Amino acid sequence: MTLSTSDATSVGRALVTGASGTTGRRVAAGLAARGIAVTSANRSGTGPAGTRGTRFDWHDTSTHPGALHEVDRVYLIVPADDADPQAVMRPFLTLARESGVRRAVLLSSSALSSGGPGPGAVHEAVAELFDEWAVLRPSWFMQNFVGDHPHAATIRAESVITTATGDGRVGFIDADDIARVAVETLLSPVPWNTDLVLTGPEALSYDDVAAVLTDVGGRRIAHVPVDADTLRTRLEAAGVFPALAAMLSTLDVAIAGGIDDRVTDTVSQVTGTAPRSFREFAAAEFRL
Ligand SMILES: NC(=O)c1ccc[n+]([C@@H]2O[C@H](COP(=O)([O-])OP(=O)(O)OC[C@H]3O[C@@H](n4cnc5c(N)ncnc54)[C@H](OP(=O)(O)O)[C@@H]3O)[C@@H](O)[C@H]2O)c1
Repeated sequence: MTLSTSDATSVGRALVTGASGTTGRRVAAGLAARGIAVTSANRSGTGPAGTRGTRFDWHDTSTHPGALHEVDRVYLIVPADDADPQAVMRPFLTLARESGVRRAVLLSSSALSSGGPGPGAVHEAVAELFDEWAVLRPSWFMQNFVGDHPHAATIRAESVITTATGDGRVGFIDADDIARVAVETLLSPVPWNTDLVLTGPEALSYDDVAAVLTDVGGRRIAHVPVDADTLRTRLEAAGVFPALAAMLSTLDVAIAGGIDDRVTDTVSQVTGTAPRSFREFAAAEFRL
């Protein structure tokens, strides 16, 4: 496929970290489909067809220079197994800038603002180190209800979704829509230089989600509300490392308090196309 006019403005190679993950593989494939040279980075060194895989580990600095070869823009997924991702990311980002990277697009979360825990601590570093940047702050992923996510596992095994969100609502978003925004913000002739809160078209409670999945799946799925401590214990038992389990439980409580009860039109503004609804997503992707 050939480059569009906006892509052709001196775009070099793009490095996509987390390129085997939920958003990264979509971003790598989306860039490749636009004719951009892509280096796909993760610990296994694999990526989507049409991209160049490289072995990359946030915790192994010997893998960093090679990943940056010929790269002028990066898509960043924070190391999820690290309570202080900025400590490992800042030296890499400094190296990236020194080796010619002009633009950085960071995946964070709608629940995390600049300076906050986890990825939130990296917002400031990205804005400080790069003249061209964007921080993507998506709401919770629709993909959490399919594949290997803990919610998908309990839906399959017990027909339940367990949260500490109460009747708090969330503007669930499709990872395809996040990736479309990532591709645009990596390629736009003019950088966005801001954080972008990304949601789907509607805010739903987990009761609402369970009702849609019940309709689509043909078997009753229930939302089981629990307190934060119970949730943290369940997540740890499911293999989530303790610091992440604690953060996810805290974020659920924040959802109960209304932090994610919002809808933005940012996906449409950035990409020109409306985001997919949860019902459309479930009809296409949810299988029991
Ligand atoms: N799920 C949600 O609802 C939600 C909502 C808002 C924001 N987020 C944010 O989304 C981010 C996760 O993004 P995602 O879902 O696209 O990724 P993901 O599916 O969790 O995949 C993680 C990717 O990172 C790679 N990786 C893991 N550890 C690594 C390491 N030490 N060094 C290098 N690469 C490593 C993995 O590949 P290998 O294992 O092969 O290395 C994989 O490609 C998190 O920061 C989370 O806060 C998630």
